Amino acid sequence: MLVGSRQLAALLPDPAKARPAYRHLAHALGELILDGRLALHVRLPAERELAAALGTSRTTVTALYDLLRESGFAHSRQGAGTWTSLPQGRAAHGVSRLLAPQDTAIDLARAAPTLPEETLTDALARIAPRLAGHADTPGYHPYGLAELRSALAERFTARGLATTPEQILVTAGAQHALSLVLALLSGPGDRIVVENPSYPNALEAMRRAGLRLVSVPVADGTGWDPEVVESTLRHSSARLAYLIPDFHNPTGHLMPADDRARTLRAAHACGTWLIADETLTDLALDVPAPAPFAAHGPGTQVITVGSMSKTHWAGLRVGWLRAPAPLVTELAAQRVASDMGGSVVDQLLALDLLARSDQLLPGRLDRLRTQRAVLTEELGSLLPHWRWHTPPGGLSLWVDLGAPVAADLAERALAHGVRVEGGACFATDPGLFAHRLRMPYTLSEETLREAVRRIAQAAAEGPGTGPSAARQHWIA
Ligand SMILES: Cc1ncc(COP(=O)(O)O)c(C=O)c1O
Repeated sequence: MLVGSRQLAALLPDPAKARPAYRHLAHALGELILDGRLALHVRLPAERELAAALGTSRTTVTALYDLLRESGFAHSRQGAGTWTSLPQGRAAHGVSRLLAPQDTAIDLARAAPTLPEETLTDALARIAPRLAGHADTPGYHPYGLAELRSALAERFTARGLATTPEQILVTAGAQHALSLVLALLSGPGDRIVVENPSYPNALEAMRRAGLRLVSVPVADGTGWDPEVVESTLRHSSARLAYLIPDFHNPTGHLMPADDRARTLRAAHACGTWLIADETLTDLALDVPAPAPFAAHGPGTQVITVGSMSKTHWAGLRVGWLRAPAPLVTELAAQRVASDMGGSVVDQLLALDLLARSDQLLPGRLDRLRTQRAVLTEELGSLLPHWRWHTPPGGLSLWVDLGAPVAADLAERALAHGVRVEGGACFATDPGLFAHRLRMPYTLSEETLREAVRRIAQAAAEGPGTGPSAARQHWIA
């Protein structure tokens, strides 16, 4: 993989603005790598080309590359060029807090809403007669309950993507859907294009499947660079690509329609299976809910993954995938080998709640908007030097602490009774996003206020954060 000289120059500051220019550029380039905006293991442009694109001298770029090599942010292979890398000692992977025991800590590690008790008990009462109707059947439904498949197909069709029930497989959540696809369509050593940062459990499933991750940056504030996505698909010979185009977890970005079409065309041309994770699609807070990704172009090699977890409740463990019908048959066979089929009770509940989404969702979105406002207000007042882009949807903020202290801060926050996830576990490669915290706004206003108060206390006890704090001087 390589980064073009114009592409790189567009990400770097004007060399004329600071002296010495090579040091200024090296610092900026290191930050791009640490923030995942410039992928690891990509070949940097030839010195002469980058010098021309930056409007600077060749000597400056030679000094820049020398300094990057010295500080560990690049290495050279004889005659082959210079490649991005990470300095040693930065390769500590974030440990996910999702497996942490349930305790009394305020939980900002999970970005998932709760379900009002009444909504659940009412739904349980309503499904009882239907459930009884299933009691004299064997109860195995490897494809999912027929009525739920139909309802999901109708939802896709209503959103602009004609779908038949045969194209739907009901799964035990989006994560299960992804695991089934990985098991069927890939093998150890295959490449998969993924966003960086991305959803940690998806990345973990890929690592465990022995896949090689090829990352494309999702930059805070600007999102995907369609040129980079296209060229990565073209040059990586990846078997699969996994994208979260709707309110991307963790950055909250929404991929523009034109970029979706371009990505689909590129994946189609390369024969790459594209997995569109639309788990967060319905959580559109400031924009209309996006049309399905597969509706934007040739969708024959697209697998769409969805879930009840973020709109309703993760405790249902009901999700789905939409794929060409023959592939759904193969995936159902794959699924029989693991769990035979999903629970009838869970699926009847999902069907009931889905049919009442219009009653549940608007209130839920209103609450999320209010909670998002409370979280940003509290952060703005207690931690004014932290930075974030308010996302148009989804469940969390991707907060820039201004210094690589997220892991320490998360530890200290836990001592203050708040569990929160540092940026490292969202990274494709260890050592990135050490200055990021993902902060969901799924908890009540009161709890969010208390959580920020405690995090601010924890922050005050540690090394400074923010641009005025002494940033780690990785380049002396
Ligand atoms: C993007 C994304 N995909 C999948 C999942 C997992 O969803 P499920 O609970 O349906 O397995 C999550 C949960 O956070 C998510 O954010």
